[in-house]
Amino acid sequence: MSVDLSVEIAGVRLSNPILTASGTCGYGEELAELYDLSHLGGIVTKSITISPREGHPPPRTTETSAGMLNAIGLANVGVDRFITEKLAFLEKFRTVVVVNVAGAKLQEYVDICARLADCPRADMVELNFSCPNVEAGMEIAKSASLAEAAVREIKRVFPRPVIAKLSPNVTDITEIARACEAGGAGALALINTLVGMAVDIESRRPRLTNNTGGLSGPAIKPVALNMVHQVYNTVKIPVIGIGGIVNWQDAVEFFLCGATAVQVGTGLFVEPDAPLKIVRGLKKYLSDKKLNRVTELIGKVRKY
Ligand SMILES: Cc1cc2nc3c(=O)[nH]c(=O)nc-3n(C[C@H](O)[C@H](O)[C@H](O)COP(=O)(O)O)c2cc1C
Repeated sequence: MSVDLSVEIAGVRLSNPILTASGTCGYGEELAELYDLSHLGGIVTKSITISPREGHPPPRTTETSAGMLNAIGLANVGVDRFITEKLAFLEKFRTVVVVNVAGAKLQEYVDICARLADCPRADMVELNFSCPNVEAGMEIAKSASLAEAAVREIKRVFPRPVIAKLSPNVTDITEIARACEAGGAGALALINTLVGMAVDIESRRPRLTNNTGGLSGPAIKPVALNMVHQVYNTVKIPVIGIGGIVNWQDAVEFFLCGATAVQVGTGLFVEPDAPLKIVRGLKKYLSDKKLNRVTELIGKVRKY
């Protein structure tokens, strides 16, 4: 039985609902040495800022139980090199290219998105309102009114779909989700990392030079699933689930909780081809369950 894995996000068709998560596959070059990126539903590139950034000094990642902490500090090549080198490289693949954008201030997001507006292969932008590792990175993510205004401003300069990526480090994520939808977001992606800390008991120093970092990996999956489910029940726009997805079973859980697509992040460090395995597993699951389309799973969790 052939199954249809395609999904639509804000009018853009993805051949399958599995994307890579920002910051966990750079600009796709290393992954492309291992397999054809056209097999991915989409690739989400590392957050870009207006100017290149070195990021924080090492150590900037550390392993934790069932996850990892990172405080990379948005190391990236800056928007100019991104467009001339990285986007040009990605153009040859038949996959949806989602450009993740970050900034210290709203104007920085607007300036970057205005540049990307002239690059038709930047199919969508994903706004990283939620980076816990840079100063002022969390301001927009934590305020419904700032988030709504930010999406609205960015929509003015970027003609294609805008995805708002939300932070779990808030009191009520549904409030921010609603605000981004009101501002005109075409979809929401959640979750970014949870702020965490790890300490070396010999030196008594935090394990990251930034002292704190963002927790990701299987440790955060239950939190992410709950937030995806809450947001799915709050907004009408598609939700993209992120957080601890390492295999097809994880992905199915996210679809059942309301995700239309999912992103694989930390899982790529363990198995760079995890997205391809997830696609294969998903096909078999759907066919075993006699379902024709992956979209039939969305939001179908049977609650008690
Ligand atoms: C090393 C590392 C770097 C990351 N860099 C970014 C980034 O630049 N922009 C962003 O929006 N999210 C970034 N993230 C967050 C991921 O995209 C994702 O939201 C988070 O890791 C949760 O998914 P996971 O548990 O599958 O890793 C990063 C995560 C990791 C582990």
